[in-house]
Amino acid sequence: MVDTDEYFGSPDRIALARRSARLWRLLRDNPRYAYYGRLVALSEPGEDAADVLSDMARLQGAAVSYFYPADDAAALFAQLEDRGLATDRHEHFWGGEAALAASRRALQDLALPADLTVSAIDADTPREVVRDVAELCQACDVMPVPGSIMRGQGRAGICLVATDQESRPVATASSYMIHHPASPRSKDAFWGMLATRQDRRGEKIALLLGAQAIIYMWERHGARGFMTGVKADNRSSQALCRKLGVTASDWIYASCIDKEMFAGPSVTK
Ligand SMILES: CC(C)(COP(=O)(O)OP(=O)(O)OC[C@H]1O[C@@H](n2cnc3c(N)ncnc32)[C@H](O)[C@@H]1OP(=O)(O)O)[C@@H](O)C(=O)NCCC(=O)NCCS
Repeated sequence: MVDTDEYFGSPDRIALARRSARLWRLLRDNPRYAYYGRLVALSEPGEDAADVLSDMARLQGAAVSYFYPADDAAALFAQLEDRGLATDRHEHFWGGEAALAASRRALQDLALPADLTVSAIDADTPREVVRDVAELCQACDVMPVPGSIMRGQGRAGICLVATDQESRPVATASSYMIHHPASPRSKDAFWGMLATRQDRRGEKIALLLGAQAIIYMWERHGARGFMTGVKADNRSSQALCRKLGVTASDWIYASCIDKEMFAGPSVTK
């Protein structure tokens, strides 16, 4: 099948995203897996997590398990490293009703700077605008997702963008339903991809876009949980998440990388 999606980033990142899109087409009916345009992820880890993750890393270049118990991470990483894989982790933040309440409060108490307009990317958004938002993400070290996802076509969800008077994107936030309806996590949405242009930070723009995304997903798509992965040293993002009721949990995002495959054969079609 020819892949006509819009991809962003370096050639190896694009190749990785294409491999994941293909793997997703094979696994999308299996409730253990989740996807929103980045890696196909294991969302219900079990005894076989090391086997599943190493197979997925060999196929995609990298693999991740959400909801991995933090206390068991060292043992998992040892198994993966024995198999020649590099390992990494993000802290797994999660919020439920508290996130909705905090988001509503934020929108009541605060306002966006008056020069900004907020819109959602959709099927009609020009390709250059989608590309500019993806470039904003990259400039903030946030990995963008393919156009079909940003446009809300590949998954139910929203990618919000705040634009200045010169029509340049200033900040973005996203949330997507990522689980199978039969998954015990079916109502847990991915939330995040928060990025604010350097010169516009500290104006509560990410906070307000993040809050809007949470409320939209709760009301429109029935999301009842909001999950995101944050690096342990990303204090600003962690503080922002906490302000919106998305807080540290006993899980981590456990990931592993097959370095050869990660940098490996490009899939161009
Ligand atoms: C994280 C990021 C999106 C914040 O954007 P922003 O628009 O400047 O954030 P806001 O002005 O809405 O800040 C809201 C809250 O976040 C926290 N925060 C934001 N920047 C912070 C900083 N530099 N240090 C500490 N806390 C910070 C604070 O709690 C802040 O509330 P306060 O101002 O009342 O203290 C921005 O710094 C960014 O793009 N970082 C790089 C990308 C990134 O790390 N994204 C998250 C990936 S998980």
